[in-house]
Amino acid sequence: ADRYCVMGNPIAHSRSPRIHSLFAKLTGQSLVYERELVPLDAFETHLRQLVQSGTRGMNVTVPFKLDAARLADTRSDRVALCGAANTLVVNVDGRIHADNTDGLGLVADITRNAGVALRGQRVLLLGAGGAAAGALAPLLEQSPAQLVVCNRTHSKAQDLAEQHAHIATLYKTELLALDSSTLTGVFDVIINATASSMQGAAIPVPPHVLRAGTLVYDMMYGPAAEPFLQWAAQHGATGRDGLGMLVEQAAEAFWLWRGVRPPSQPVLAQVRAELA
Ligand code: ATR
Repeated sequence: ADRYCVMGNPIAHSRSPRIHSLFAKLTGQSLVYERELVPLDAFETHLRQLVQSGTRGMNVTVPFKLDAARLADTRSDRVALCGAANTLVVNVDGRIHADNTDGLGLVADITRNAGVALRGQRVLLLGAGGAAAGALAPLLEQSPAQLVVCNRTHSKAQDLAEQHAHIATLYKTELLALDSSTLTGVFDVIINATASSMQGAAIPVPPHVLRAGTLVYDMMYGPAAEPFLQWAAQHGATGRDGLGMLVEQAAEAFWLWRGVRPPSQPVLAQVRAELA
């Protein structure tokens, strides 16, 4: 069977092996998918060893997504733009191609699984790190009316907006970087791509950005997503955690590796049930 893995640190709690084995079962594909705990200073040597030993593809998670993008031999346009890769495809000649399916997974979960259209909507993206960067282009491709990037360190939000200005123009979206103190009006969709919940920090935006029914999305799942989603519920918004994004980014990776689209919704239901 072909071998795949997820590389990260920490990695023990990754749901990716479970998700990919369910995909394999449901599509009748034969593959092995394992966790690889990678020492913080050894991503490159570890990656070369995996390629040497015949691994056909890797998912890459915190904190190695930038390294994965840099070390690959070729990059998708998305990776060239955001500088982060979550999926590596090893070609038959051993060359590594880098892609990023995180943003596609986010958009698929919002539009298909949650049934919320982004087209013509006001969208607020919180954060300007790797997670936010990976999501920005796929979000813009949905042609929201406006996309506001808001980050604790404002200059990083500005940089991200500048790098994506041409995509915003192409999809007729107004793309702005705003400080949380200058946000006005309500948003239809708010996406938390900061690490703030993980650190037990305060909610990084004031509640006046919410209306009843705003979709408040946290890219995290489990306890890490709870503070933000509780805040949303307290203000009448609809919360959604990032488990669907995780399953959908995995489905996109599976497609890149195997050329087969796995059924993501039953797998999301299964993984959700196992998490509870
Ligand atoms: P990731 O790859 O998960 O995006 P990252 O690149 O380290 O990780 O980015 C972390 C994001 O969370 C950044 O947007 C960061 O804000 P800064 O750019 O100002 O550092 C944000 N973040 C982390 N801790 C935060 C906190 N306590 N409050 C608000 N934002 C926070």
